[in-house]
Formats: sequence, structure tokens, C-alpha cells
Amino acid sequence: MTRQHDIAVIAGDGIGLEVVPAAIRCLDVVADRHGFDLAWREYPWGSSYFRQHGAMMPADALDQLGRNAAIFLGAVGDPEIPDTETLWGLLIPIRRRFHQYINLRPVRALPGVSSPVRGGGEMDLVIVRENVEGEYSEVGGRMYRGQPAEAAIQEAIFTRAGITRAAEFAARLASGRRGLVTSVTKSNGIVHTMPFWDEVVAETLAGHDGVRLEKILVDAMAAKLVLAPTAFDVIVASNLFGDILSDLAGAIAGSIGVAPSANLNPERTHPSMFEPVHGSAPDIAGQGIANPVGQMWAGAMMLEHLGETAAAAELVTAFETVLDYGVRTRDLGGTAGTSDFTEAVERHLPSLP
Ligand code: NAI
Ligand code: MG
Repeated sequence: MTRQHDIAVIAGDGIGLEVVPAAIRCLDVVADRHGFDLAWREYPWGSSYFRQHGAMMPADALDQLGRNAAIFLGAVGDPEIPDTETLWGLLIPIRRRFHQYINLRPVRALPGVSSPVRGGGEMDLVIVRENVEGEYSEVGGRMYRGQPAEAAIQEAIFTRAGITRAAEFAARLASGRRGLVTSVTKSNGIVHTMPFWDEVVAETLAGHDGVRLEKILVDAMAAKLVLAPTAFDVIVASNLFGDILSDLAGAIAGSIGVAPSANLNPERTHPSMFEPVHGSAPDIAGQGIANPVGQMWAGAMMLEHLGETAAAAELVTAFETVLDYGVRTRDLGGTAGTSDFTEAVERHLPSLP
């Protein structure tokens, strides 16, 4: 019997509806070449669903998703619906319910893609973003809405367990790479949570011989990423800092349209979720010009997570080769549309050894 992996697909909104089908076409080709089946279960959830039903997904959505081996997400976000509804109605509940506490974001220069920054063409780093706590918390509130005395409070939540597992993941990853973990902090200004972050990261890394720990303030980090993008190996950061730095690093690598992301439940007790770093890009949605590489690469990370390592590597080689041939979407300075690029990848795959 052929191996089968059940995958929940949420294309979502905006360019998600364009890049998800593009990636699925290529994933099906590699699956076929490697003798396994991807059984796609498509869930039509997102902003259109919200307009009809007043919620981003049905009440039992998380139970439905939980029956799959992985979740393949495009993006959610609609200019007419507050992001608090779209992101907190779908993306963030999925990350939390399925304990996807690691958000893994590799950033690497791709062949044929030029960086806007000196040295960006040689960068090769991975961001390990803490994905379920930190600054993205539900604790807080608004008072005196609309009145002169109006106030808002939002508490950041950092736990020893949450910091330890992110740091531990980063250390293990670094030991299989160049052995450097850069921990991003702001313990000079944020005086409770960030010194705690620093302490727990240092304690965790002390248990890993052969892995060096470097600590850097997030503001200095923003500058250093631009000035010395090759100085990093594994970056570990809180939910907010990791989010911001991954767009920055993606842009340095050439475009945020190429950056992938894996929301991992490392214990594998729940499905993990794979998505590009970018959002729904309403400014270019519906024009057929979105770069599908971030979604394809996220798909390759999903195959790797499912144990289909050879197929994953083949997909990466295919889109890299096509980029190197000069087939590029507009965000990379080319003229190809989403479907031109996708067809080029599909055509190239059968020629691989
Ligand atoms: P965005 O990532 O959607 O777009 C930022 C810029 O990058 C835009 O100019 C866009 O055209 C460009 N871009 C993004 N992906 C591209 C691609 N594949 N090819 C070519 N160009 C690309 O971020 P923005 O505009 O801040 O957010 C739009 C919406 O998406 C918001 O509602 C936001 O909350 C949501 N969002 C959702 C995410 C998710 O579902 N995981 C992640 C980030 C944002
Ligand atoms: Mg982001």
C-alpha cells in the first residue's frame, strides 16, 4: 500500500488562495515521484467564511484539524476585517491548541536572487521564534473606551518552561549547524521579562557543550542583521521579536515572498502547521503575481517533518534551479507570474535524477 499523509489545507485569504494551489501542484508531483500520497483536506475557512458565519472557522474546527498529520496554511487577513478577528480567530488558536511552540524560520540566500544588502547573498540562518506566549498574550484590557481617560494594558507572559524549550530547541539545532546561538533580548528596557529570558536561555545553553551563546539587544540586532547578515547561525527570540526579525531577514535574503515557516509541535502529539512568513498581501492579491516560493518551501518543510526527506530536498532543488535559470516573480525583479513560476517548477521536477 502507498504511504498516505492526510493534510489539512487552509488557503485562507488574499494571495493564500493563489500560492497554496501553486505549491500543492508541485508537492503532488514530488509525492508521486517518491511513491507516497498527499491526501489534501481543504477547509474553506478565513475571511469569506467570516463574512457568512461571523467566525473565521466553525466551532469544531480544531477537532477537525487535529485529525490530520499536518496543516498547510496560506495566510489570513483582510483589509475590511480587523486583524484581531482574523489572526485571533484562526492562526493563533491553531498554534496554541496544538502546542506549536516553536516557529522555525530558515532564511537563506537563494540562487539567482539578489539581496538589497551587502553580504546578504551569503546569509544562512534559522530563526527559532517562541510561538505561543510572550508579548502575544490575551491578558489585559481596555478601559474607558472612547473617553479622554481611555487606557489599554497588555501583559507579556514568559514562563520558565516556554523559554527553556525554545532555547533547548535552538541549542540542538545549532549543534548540528555552526554551533552559534544568538539570543535576542531587550533586558535594558524591559526589566522583568527580558532579564528572565536571558537567565533561562543562559542556564539552558550551559548544558550544551560545543554551542556558543551570544546575547544581543533587539535594536542592535536590527542594525547588525543589515550590516553583517552572515554573522548569525541560529537566532532564538520571543514571539514579537522573532516575528519582526523574520520579515527583516527575509527581505535581506531578497523578498519576504520566499521565506517559509514551520509551527512545530516537537513532541508530535498534535499536527504541526506549515505556512509562508508573509501575510495575505491584499495590495497584490488577485493579480496572479504573488511569489509562491515561500509557500513551496513551507511545503518542503512539511514533507521533511513527515519523514519524506528526499522528496523535500527535491522540491527545494527544483525551485532553486528555476530561480537560477532566471524565472522570477516581480518581487524578485522578474516578470514571471505565479503560474509561470509554478509551471516551470513542475516541468523541471521530472528532469531531476
Ligand atoms: P504581507 O506579508 O501580506 O505583505 C507585505 C508586503 O510584502 C506587501 O507589499 C506584499 O505585496 C509583499 N508580499 C508578501 N508576500 C508576497 C509574495 N508571496 N510575493 C510577492 N510579494 C509579497 O504583510 P501585511 O501587508 O502587513 O499584512 C497583510 C495582512 O496579512 C494583514 O491582515 C496581516 O495581519 C496578515 N498577516 C497574516 C499572516 C498569517 O496569516 N500568518 C502573517 C502576516 C500578516
Ligand atoms: Mg509576521
